[in-house]
Amino acid sequence: MKTLIAGNWKMNGLLKDRDEIKKLAGLLEKDPAPGCDITLCLPATLLFPSVKFIAESAIALGAQNIHWAESGAHTGDISVEMIKEAGCEYVIIGHSERRSGHGEHGERSQSVSEKAKIAMAYKIFAIICVGESLDEREAGKAKSHVLDQVKKSLPQVFSADQVAIAYEPIWAIGTGVTAKLEDIAEMHGFIRAYLNEHHGEDGAKIRILYGGSVNPGNAAEILSTTDVNGVLVGGASLKADDFFAIIRAAG
Ligand code: PGA
Repeated sequence: MKTLIAGNWKMNGLLKDRDEIKKLAGLLEKDPAPGCDITLCLPATLLFPSVKFIAESAIALGAQNIHWAESGAHTGDISVEMIKEAGCEYVIIGHSERRSGHGEHGERSQSVSEKAKIAMAYKIFAIICVGESLDEREAGKAKSHVLDQVKKSLPQVFSADQVAIAYEPIWAIGTGVTAKLEDIAEMHGFIRAYLNEHHGEDGAKIRILYGGSVNPGNAAEILSTTDVNGVLVGGASLKADDFFAIIRAAG
């Protein structure tokens, strides 16, 4: 199973910040990471203008969201065909900041599943995010919440080379507080067991990423934790040196 290292720039990055992408491509050219798949999920405005910097590199372009519909009256949204045309091979779907940050009810797992389906139909790799809040963890409901999200967000039919699950405990995102290694191992093992049991061969091959305050200092131990098959990195993906150090930590 190839490790997947995904960067999520969130709502950060102007044209000038492409210097970091150029720098990362240069670092990878000198010191490639053949054991890893690498994607940088950029804001929509940076997709087209960044293609030239990564064209010859090991970095694949990714987006941070798509609509589940092919096209139509969806003001402000972006379609899978649009990100594909912009050069994307990956998309993040159902990030907790979209699940909770958009309107009264936020994004629901059912629409996450619809988005994953249309991404796969267009051969775009879907990184489906799940994760519990601190309240849910403290109430002993972390596993049941995550399981419910995985069940509803992952389409019934998928191929393991087109989709990954990213476990991101909400309380660990952007806080500098990383989940304990034993908690990461426990949740990843729990998700893996569900996938093995309910999705057969493809379930066993699907990659499970960890996300939440991953940085150059903790990446190696997180990546060597059982059932961790990659990482989804927010803040530390903005700087080429930091993201490169995380890629190197994957071996
Ligand atoms: P972080 O974000 O690495 O800044 O905690 C991770 C994410 O939200 O994907």
